Amino acid sequence: MGKSKPLCLFSLLAFSLFASLSHSLPLSTNKRWIVDDESGERVKLHCINWSTHLNAMLPEGLDKIPLNVFIAQMKEHGFNCVRYTWATHMFTRYGDHKVGETLDSLMIHRVRLGLRKHNPYYENITHIEAFDAMIDQFGKQGMMVVADNHVGEPRWCCGEKDGNAFFGDRHFNPQEWLQGLSIVAKRVKGKPQVHIYIYFISLKSFSFH
Ligand SMILES: *[C@@H]1O[C@H](CO)[C@@H](O)[C@H](O)[C@H]1NC(C)=O
Ligand SMILES: *[C@@H]1O[C@H](CO)[C@@H](O)[C@H](O)[C@H]1NC(C)=O
Repeated sequence: MGKSKPLCLFSLLAFSLFASLSHSLPLSTNKRWIVDDESGERVKLHCINWSTHLNAMLPEGLDKIPLNVFIAQMKEHGFNCVRYTWATHMFTRYGDHKVGETLDSLMIHRVRLGLRKHNPYYENITHIEAFDAMIDQFGKQGMMVVADNHVGEPRWCCGEKDGNAFFGDRHFNPQEWLQGLSIVAKRVKGKPQVHIYIYFISLKSFSFH
């Protein structure tokens, strides 16, 4: 519970404080507001959760619908931003694992086959490549991205005792966490669609690019 509090706070900010919508880049802050750097207008983020921090290390649904159609549907529903969650170990331990092989190892071969049908590009690339490709596609379709470091080990969270979030937790090694942050920061650097980079849900800190 404690772990999702900062996020709730953030969501509250995102959903209630900002008045008008803008996609211009880059963003900055003006007092309590997030604003478009050039026009000075407020930017309102409507973010949809889409997790890549779960065991499959790939957002759910790609075995059912082509990614671009998915994103178009999100936009139709009024979202202009994806809260794209990732797990540290995706980058520090499993980055070179292939998506299709991970799905097989989880004994969900049918998901692999669905992926082959609807998003074939993703079947035989690595998780890191898939992470990059997703972010690029979000950008191409005008979605902003909150790159949210959600957990250490990829899996469902956030129980108080899942050992997967904070200092002293089994799946939280500070060195590895920093290594993961650095890898992802380098990957998203220069991608203007990535606006906010959350260091860890429990640490309550995030910075603006
Ligand atoms: C998004 O995910 C967070 C944590 O995983 C959860 O607390 C929140 O309720 C989710 N929001 C929606 C709209 O599903
Ligand atoms: C991915 O690799 C598997 C096994 O080599 C192959 O059967 C499949 O056709 C490949 N998928 C794509 C989309 O190329």
